[in-house]
Amino acid sequence: METWDAIRSRRNVRTYTDAPISGQHLNRILEAGWRSPSGMNLQPWDFVVCTDREQLADLARVWQGAGHVARSAATIAVVSPRPEAGGSEGMLQYDLGQATMNMMLAATDLGIGTAHAAVRDQALAQEVLGFPDDRFCAWMIALGDPADRPLTPIVHPNRRPFDTVVHHGTW
Ligand SMILES: Cc1cc2nc3c(=O)[nH]c(=O)nc-3n(C[C@H](O)[C@H](O)[C@H](O)COP(=O)(O)O)c2cc1C
Repeated sequence: METWDAIRSRRNVRTYTDAPISGQHLNRILEAGWRSPSGMNLQPWDFVVCTDREQLADLARVWQGAGHVARSAATIAVVSPRPEAGGSEGMLQYDLGQATMNMMLAATDLGIGTAHAAVRDQALAQEVLGFPDDRFCAWMIALGDPADRPLTPIVHPNRRPFDTVVHHGTW
């Protein structure tokens, strides 16, 4: 897929077929995250890949809006160092957002659907994923073959009107 088509085709996909994602495709998606830029090249992320059905069901309980994780073929948990008090959490979240989007676009390029999920219950996330105490699970990315329709460019995305968002020269 052309980059421009991938950008226009990505959408949150929350229902999936039973098709698994090949190891080759999963690795490409993970490599896209690994290649992402970050402030001072700190790379404040680790990626925990989950494909076990029971583990996915447990992970889906970390936030009420994470139900789709249970149905996914695979979910990537984005684990990050806990931000220090007074540190730059803004930059950390910016970095994590870039890595997330890189992985979502790489997946879209392969025709694989993706969906964000936030993480509320950190204790449960740590129990399920086993990360060290100085880390937290920032976000999850659910992956799977879209059950509704293939990923194709969205002609009318649900967005604020383009002309009210873009300003030329001054506000
Ligand atoms: C920071 C962030 C957190 C999100 N958290 C969730 C979530 O917990 N559960 C969910 O179903 N969708 C979540 N979303 C998906 C958004 O609702 C979605 O991106 C937005 O409605 C636009 O839809 P689209 O991605 O299909 O274009 C999240 C998106 C972002 C960027």
